[in-house]
Amino acid sequence: VKRELSLDFECLNLGGGFGVPYRPEEQSLDLGAVARGVRAACDVGLAAGSLKEPALMVEPGRFLAADAGFLVTRVLALKDGYKKFAGVDAGANDLPRPAIYGAYHHLSVLGKEGEAAREEVSVVGRLCENNDQFARDRLLPRVGPGAVLVIHNAGAHAYAMGHNYNGRPRAAEYLLTAAGELKLIRRAETIPDLYAGVVDPPFINDAEEYRGN
Ligand SMILES: Cc1ncc(COP(=O)(O)O)c(C=O)c1O
Repeated sequence: VKRELSLDFECLNLGGGFGVPYRPEEQSLDLGAVARGVRAACDVGLAAGSLKEPALMVEPGRFLAADAGFLVTRVLALKDGYKKFAGVDAGANDLPRPAIYGAYHHLSVLGKEGEAAREEVSVVGRLCENNDQFARDRLLPRVGPGAVLVIHNAGAHAYAMGHNYNGRPRAAEYLLTAAGELKLIRRAETIPDLYAGVVDPPFINDAEEYRGN
């Protein structure tokens, strides 16, 4: 571009894609090593093209947010058929990554963190979609109805990527404060919220249950 058009770039935006450790055995990204690699590559490229040094920009979305959020869900029912399923009260509408592209999200069972995994179970959501699965054939401590499952690395793609498919209202969000208290920062959606944007909906105004009563 410089050669053909004599343009200098004011900034070079490397975008996102900075990985996070999704599995317990994975290491955190060494940002210092990334910076040194980028610096070295820039030095070579800038010198070769006689380019002025641009401002370097990054957009590390997931890297900043993923570890900060957990999706907490409760087991509603078990199905013991040709294999075991645990149906939970969250769904792919709350955290779409596993359903959309098979992303791995680590799962722990509240109160059983130290317990050895004992049975293979698929953890499935409530959407009418057969890929609504947070985990497929995952080895977990044994769970029953009422067990609380914690889905890790949900900070970047839960609410932000979530949606209302199947008429599912979005979940509430809580902040865990430095003092260890849970503070509600976004209430759970209600059925009336799903219709909030509908213009002049007479069928809703007439129906008691849709007014949230
Ligand atoms: C324009 C843009 N920049 C940065 C990012 C962040 O990517 P990542 O979260 O993988 O770092 C995204 C992700 O949606 C994006 O759309």
